[in-house]
Order: sequence, then C-alpha cells, then structure tokens
Amino acid sequence: MNMVNFKGQAVLPIGLGTWHMGDEPQHRATEIAALRSGIQTGTELGTLAIDTAEMYGEGRSETLVGGEAIQPVERQKLYLISKVYPWNASEDLLPKSLDASLNRLGVDYLDLYLLHWTGNIPLAETVLAMQRAQKAGKIRHWGVSNFDTSDMQELWQVPDGDQCVTNEVLYNLGGSRGGIEYDLVPWLQAHQLPVIAYSPVAQGDSLGNDLTADPLLNEIAAAHHVSVFQLLLAWVIRNGETLAIPQSSSADHVQNNLAAAKLELTADEWQLIQAKYPTPTRKQPLDVL
Ligand SMILES: NC(=O)c1ccc[n+]([C@@H]2O[C@H](COP(=O)([O-])OP(=O)(O)OC[C@H]3O[C@@H](n4cnc5c(N)ncnc54)[C@H](OP(=O)(O)O)[C@@H]3O)[C@@H](O)[C@H]2O)c1
Repeated sequence: MNMVNFKGQAVLPIGLGTWHMGDEPQHRATEIAALRSGIQTGTELGTLAIDTAEMYGEGRSETLVGGEAIQPVERQKLYLISKVYPWNASEDLLPKSLDASLNRLGVDYLDLYLLHWTGNIPLAETVLAMQRAQKAGKIRHWGVSNFDTSDMQELWQVPDGDQCVTNEVLYNLGGSRGGIEYDLVPWLQAHQLPVIAYSPVAQGDSLGNDLTADPLLNEIAAAHHVSVFQLLLAWVIRNGETLAIPQSSSADHVQNNLAAAKLELTADEWQLIQAKYPTPTRKQPLDVL
C-alpha cells in the first residue's frame, strides 16, 4: 500500500470524511459506530486521516469526531485535519476559530489546518496567522482547499506562502477533471505537495456522474470481487500522492473504503479505464462544492 507523504508524515491513502455527520441526533450512534470502526481498522494499518471543518454543521462534525469517535485512540495515530472559514482567516479571528476547533475535537493540536476556500482577507495575513499557530504548536502544518493553479501561484508570491503543504480539491473519476489534472496536479507535483481528494466517490453518484452504473467499472470491480466504490477510490489514489477522504455513515461502507487501498488493478484494466475516461487535454476552471 502506498502511503501519502505529508512533510515526512506517512498517512494512509484513504481516510475519513465527515461532512454532514453530527447534523441529525437520531443518526449519532450510527455515525460514531462508523467512525470508530474506521478508526480501529485504519490505525492498525498506519496513521489515519480524519477530515472535518468548523463549517460542517457549524462545529457539530468536530464535536462528533472529538466527543466520542476518537477518544479511545492514541492521538499520534490520527492525522486530524480541520478548516477555517475564509472570513475567519484573519490575524485576529483565525486563532479564535482554531481554539474553538481544538476544543470541540478535544485535542491540543491539529495535524493540518486548511483555509477552506479563497476569500477577501489578504493571503499574506492568513499565512501569517497560520505560521503563528504553527509556531505556537497548535497546528503541525497548514494548507489550502479549493485553490486553482492561479491561486496557488498567488500564494507562492506571499511571504512564507510556500510553507503550505497541500491543496484539498474536488476529485473523482467523473466531473470536471480538467480543473485538476490539466495543470493543478502537475503544479502541485512540481512543488512536492500531495493532493487531498474530496468527494472521491462523487457522493455516491449524487454529483450526477452515474459512475456506479458504468458497465466497464462494474465488470472490473466484479473481477476483483470489490465494489465500484472501491474501484473509484483505487483510481483516485493511483499515483501515491493523493489522499482520498470518502465520507460514510455506514461501518460496512467505511470498511469497504479502507480496504480499497490494497486493491491492485492490472495494466490492461488501467488502460481500459483510461480509454473510457481520458485525461483532460484542456484547462477547465476548478469545480468547487
Ligand atoms: N474542502 C472542501 O471544500 C470539501 C468539500 C466537500 C467535501 N469535503 C470533505 O470530503 C469528504 C468526502 O466528500 P463528500 O462527503 O462530499 O462525498 P463522498 O465521500 O464522495 O460521498 C459520500 C457519499 O457516498 C456514500 N458512500 C461512501 N462510501 C460508500 C460505499 N463504500 N458504498 C456505498 N456508498 C458509499 C455515502 O453514503 P453512506 O453513508 O450510505 O455510506 C455518502 O452518501 C467530506 O465528508 C468532507 O470531509 C471537503
């Protein structure tokens, strides 16, 4: 299994997303069971990423993750990611948002803190606030999310902007891959930054791609006795430089997803997928959810 390298920290290529989790009290027990099942299996294999944000349920996702899901686990076995709203990414407000996230998660540091998307606060100010949080030991590293290539280039122009360690973007086999594969991934690779792929299973086709009904994907998945979801995840993490963070509230699906990191396709199968879903040959704007 290829681990993903975040500044020397090896992280399992498939982690846990948490958007919408914690929103409905009646789903709480099932969601905690799903997260715990993933955490138990994942941390036996290596360091497991969990992705949350102050935005998710206005803190309810962080509370769910920190409240019960991660409590029995050694902190260093987890790679905890949270995100700050763009309008809170100022010198004054970022430390407050960060403290609130740490409190909800019940931890004293994050492994990764991301600017959730571009906003109106100057990037230089956000970077300064991130660097200060890092020096204070409250975050190990910081990064960005939903940044297109031009945004990354702009970030690299500000003091310490090049201390950013990743960009979390919408990435799956369907959808607008031109925003990512045409020039963003090459730019990130050239700067040795891993990608974090959100919505890696296209929200179970809710994004309108109909990937799970694709006969070719079903045929290849069946040949390996896996689900199409696993195939979609294996595709997202195929280059060893991408962390996929699928979300699921089902313990079975979570197990299914984590196991996809071990799936190996033949060269012929990769070629068939590539022929049906070719690499984009022109730039498209980055898709954002
Ligand atoms: N940075 C950003 O701006 C941003 C934006 C969006 C998302 N994210 C992050 O990325 C994570 C993942 O993205 P997402 O939640 O949008 O979409 P996703 O992970 O592509 O899809 C989630 C959906 O797929 C289903 N699913 C997952 N695994 C499955 C499996 N093995 N079999 C059947 N169904 C499965 C889940 O249903 P079940 O519960 O029934 O399994 C859920 O409805 C989020 O939770 C969040 O942490 C970040």
